[in-house]
Amino acid sequence: MTATTVSPLDLTALRGRFPALSRTIAGQPAAYLDGPGGSQVPAEVIDAIGDYLRGSNANLGGPFATSEESDAIYDAARAAAADFTGSAPDEIAFGANMTTLNFQLAHAVARTLRAGDEIVVTELDHDGNVAPWLRVAADHGLVVRTAPLAAGDATLDLDALEALLGERTRVVAFTLASNAVGSKPDARRIAAAAHRVGALAWADAVHYAPHGRIDRAALGLDVVLCSPYKFFGPHLGLAAIRRDLAETWPADRVRPADETPAGHRFETGTQSHEALAGFVAAVGYLASLGDGATRSDRLDSAYARIAAHEEALSVQALQGLAAIDGVQLYGITDAARVAERTPTFAFTVAGHTPRDAAAELGRQGIFVWDGNYYALNAITALGLESRGGAVRAGFLHYTTPGEVERLCEAVAALR
Ligand SMILES: Cc1ncc(COP(=O)(O)O)c(C=O)c1O
Repeated sequence: MTATTVSPLDLTALRGRFPALSRTIAGQPAAYLDGPGGSQVPAEVIDAIGDYLRGSNANLGGPFATSEESDAIYDAARAAAADFTGSAPDEIAFGANMTTLNFQLAHAVARTLRAGDEIVVTELDHDGNVAPWLRVAADHGLVVRTAPLAAGDATLDLDALEALLGERTRVVAFTLASNAVGSKPDARRIAAAAHRVGALAWADAVHYAPHGRIDRAALGLDVVLCSPYKFFGPHLGLAAIRRDLAETWPADRVRPADETPAGHRFETGTQSHEALAGFVAAVGYLASLGDGATRSDRLDSAYARIAAHEEALSVQALQGLAAIDGVQLYGITDAARVAERTPTFAFTVAGHTPRDAAAELGRQGIFVWDGNYYALNAITALGLESRGGAVRAGFLHYTTPGEVERLCEAVAALR
């Protein structure tokens, strides 16, 4: 199935499942174009969280009903995360958010490295996949090398990245999609290059996850991290870690150390069981947008539909924003290349600071971000960090063409 031949999403029906989407601001419908910062959630996710807290709230491992139900939710969450990431249930670790998990996992792998070993990070990444490596490099005497953006279209320069790899490279930490400019690097190529020198391919899928299907094994990723609150679930982080790595990396454990399943070794203390219940419902919601015999099949089909819808929104936004005098758009601007980006647009508006432009749009009920969104390397490389960054409008599958039109008209009116 390709993105151009799939049956379309039923936008009216799916939007009806999201209570937040009926909110108004100053008499206008709210347009949630802040998706890269966090998505809205369907009613079934809210219900699952409430139902857990109302009826099953307990700690794990007890011989009574609520604890057994909590155990079952934990198992269901691992199974859902496995299907969602193309991994096995025992390769999953849950945590507070991606950043916390990534610091923890970076500390773990760094304990297995020697001074002088090298980590490659990128200018395209959110700092959640850069700062942990700078931290452990300082602690363990490692060397961090940074792969640059390509000149012009804010994509990652893969030739330059490959040129940084060598016999001391141990980890290549990169993003599946930029939360600032939307660029999606060729993950297979990066993973293959990492493996050629014996390094780990370590991917941040936080921004990518609401837009594209993650298949850790097929992409050849050793570690992949994402955050369900970006894909219609609750505030939560998850990592999928290749089993042999999860089994052997040193982990901070309380005694007696229960080390199965392997990913569990990187979960400290009691998890948010209500969030796990909400996460299972979020994956169920996504799967309900597709067809197929298994949940994985339905996710494949759902993401093909999501991609088709989002690519059409991207073309509309690129054409609409390009037509506004004084708007400078960063990232891929060629409408023929929308498959290489997510529908996330960073732009500046002449005569307005990004904060002022975002605040004016916010007053009209159009929610957009401004600043660097912790994509510090990218915003600095684009020369925007000292100028307040850029406005960022991000679409999700529930965004309508009407909302994109409203955005373009409101930005044009700023001029
Ligand atoms: C690409 C990317 N990576 C990492 C993060 C950090 O995720 P979390 O908030 O779960 O720590 C974000 C959050 O915006 C992000 O967009």
